[in-house]
Amino acid sequence: MYDVDPNLFMNWVVGIILAVGALLLVVTLVASAVRGRSGRTMSYLYMLTTLFLCFGVVVAVLGFRGQHSGARPWHIFLDMKYQPKYTAQGESVFFADGRAMRPPPENTIPFDGTDYAADAGFHPGPKADFLKADLRYYQGIADPAAKETRDGATLPKEPGWKDGQMVETYFVARIPDTAVGAAGGWEPLVKHGRQQFNVHCAACHGASGRGGAGTDAHGIVGAYGLSVAPADVTGVTFQSQPDGQLFNTITNGKGAMPAYAPQVKVQDRWAVVSYLRVLQYARATPGAVGKK
Ligand code: HEC
Repeated sequence: MYDVDPNLFMNWVVGIILAVGALLLVVTLVASAVRGRSGRTMSYLYMLTTLFLCFGVVVAVLGFRGQHSGARPWHIFLDMKYQPKYTAQGESVFFADGRAMRPPPENTIPFDGTDYAADAGFHPGPKADFLKADLRYYQGIADPAAKETRDGATLPKEPGWKDGQMVETYFVARIPDTAVGAAGGWEPLVKHGRQQFNVHCAACHGASGRGGAGTDAHGIVGAYGLSVAPADVTGVTFQSQPDGQLFNTITNGKGAMPAYAPQVKVQDRWAVVSYLRVLQYARATPGAVGKK
């Protein structure tokens, strides 16, 4: 910011002021010896000398701010400089080991998955999904690499079919066991799914899941004549989608449908997926669930 070292600049300013002051002092002394102590010129000389010397002192005291110093600064106004608190690496009389910093409780797992004990401080960037490493459960993805180019875009690979069973590609074909286990079995999972569906989805897709807009609307929102009708989630297209894809639609939204991840938790989303299957089955569309 400065072209000139401010400290050097101040040294010069003070130097010049003091030099002028000193010169004036000499001139005053010589003049008073030659011309006597009173008179108009002498008054000016006294005044100027005093002025420059005072000025010199003021600049000398205030002008050296910014200089480096090893001495403790003066704290005239304490403000909040000293607080009764523990500082990093500080000492504590409270804890038996005398350390203010506490080690984390036993079996603590760092959120970003960093093994601090092993790398003693160095870590190559946090792993945000460390605790969510189970891609199948948290994202409904079976194989993130299974992509293909369709319509000029790289999209998740469509699942294949073999003997009426879905062959898993990108999305998980079936609701992960983790979700069923966490719910305490299929029945509680589906029941919870119905409750969640009626809360979060029925407004648009209708309690039957058939969606639609205008006079064909099954949901309340759709009845207002939306430009994009909520999909009929019981339709054949969605019957043949892998569970992971339905989960992904709820998580991230699709087209005109917003993402529901902020409202519906991971476990609740799997429950909703299980209930979507129930709605599809109830529709009794030929080919429901697992393509006959
Ligand atoms: C605000 C209204 C609204 C709500 C609430 C809503 N949806 Fe949708 N949903 C839509 C609309 C609109 C579409 C059609 C999107 C499009 O085609 O652009 C859609 C499409 C879908 C699809 C088809 C996606 C595809 O692959 O084309 C599924 C599955 C779905 N919704 C499931 C759900 C579930 C489950 C919930 C509850 C968690 C839900 N929706 C809540 C409006 C909604």
